[in-house]
Amino acid sequence: MRRIYLDNAATSWPKPEAVYAASDTYLRQSGAPAGRSAYHDAVEVERAVADVRRRIARLLGAADPRRIIFTLNGTDALNLAIHGLLAPGDHVVTTDVEHNSVLRPLRFLEETAGVTVTRVACDAAGHLAPAAVATAVRPHTKLVVVAHASNVTGTLQPVAQIGQMLRGHEALLLVDAAQTLGHLPVDIGPLAADLLAAPGHKGLLGPLGTGILYVGPRADGRLHSVRQGGTGTESEQDRQPETLPQQFEAGNLNVPGILALGAGVDYLLQRGLDDVRQHEGELLTKLVDGLARIPPVTLYGPPNPAQRVGVVSVTVAGQDAQQIAATLDSGYGIQVRAGLHCAPRIHHRLGTDRLGGTVRFSIGPFNRPEDMDAVLAAMAELASAPLEAGEDQRRSRHV
Ligand SMILES: Cc1ncc(COP(=O)(O)O)c(C=O)c1O
Repeated sequence: MRRIYLDNAATSWPKPEAVYAASDTYLRQSGAPAGRSAYHDAVEVERAVADVRRRIARLLGAADPRRIIFTLNGTDALNLAIHGLLAPGDHVVTTDVEHNSVLRPLRFLEETAGVTVTRVACDAAGHLAPAAVATAVRPHTKLVVVAHASNVTGTLQPVAQIGQMLRGHEALLLVDAAQTLGHLPVDIGPLAADLLAAPGHKGLLGPLGTGILYVGPRADGRLHSVRQGGTGTESEQDRQPETLPQQFEAGNLNVPGILALGAGVDYLLQRGLDDVRQHEGELLTKLVDGLARIPPVTLYGPPNPAQRVGVVSVTVAGQDAQQIAATLDSGYGIQVRAGLHCAPRIHHRLGTDRLGGTVRFSIGPFNRPEDMDAVLAAMAELASAPLEAGEDQRRSRHV
């Protein structure tokens, strides 16, 4: 049975060949740390890491590569921004479409530091209204955190409009680009994001254990480091340097991960994000149109593919989401994620929390039209013949 991977919203697979090669070559032939020593291999590694920073800055349209901070994943980047910015008594605006990597740090600060949080509701398709965000912002709001696209419905949010609206305001805008960076052009200029967090292992095609935080000029002097330690610079000081990127990167970097991430970004720069967007958009249209023709399937998110990314959530009347995902895997080789996808508030809004969540198909740049055909055939079969518990194993033997 061919493996059909449709869990790219969790982490992307496969990666471009150069991604595997970059880690392998570094680990076998160099293994030196970055930014610590002056011998040949160490200098080479430092140069290579700086080059990855440059490539990511280019992808984002950011003028200064030092504003790209390497992190452990998307969650880590969001935590660096949220904990680094907020102090007791501060007010934050966020939304019901957010992932737990935003909701949980904010809940923690609400409970432990007297931070006040306003959560803006979305509509039934997962859309946020910029006016609703504007209404929630107070004169001394410190931060607005918005996901660029929902990881449940794929809905693209009007972040550029929100960013423009905040231009004359004290509040900084933190964009969670976990489901957009690498899938479509994301330009920091028009987006007007002061901070942008993204995993390196999803759309950017790097390995797990990588992520980035873009720190814009409006955050200078306001964003504090939440981790302190060795940077290989200003070593005579026992105070964290205030130069970028060292202010936010304490300890040895994940060099094998970062160099592989650089190869993923290279792939995207060469292929072009317009091409990736078009390819994934065609697959998305095929998938959504086909699923809409299977009557017991309910689709969530905007019907117009231009308003979403390739993340598609469904429920099937009378069937359990986990059971469907298990059967897709064991019977058809189709790998998807079922449940709440670490985003409980949007499921509450959709009413899918009561159903145990949704089945989520998430498309990547290496999926093919045949993958969508396979999903549609499997879903039509599953929808027409509801399974008894345990039947997925029997069905898998027939395929
Ligand atoms: C919208 C969104 N934000 C943040 C994250 C967290 O990213 P990571 O898994 O890299 O920590 C995810 C991961 O699924 C996500 O979908």
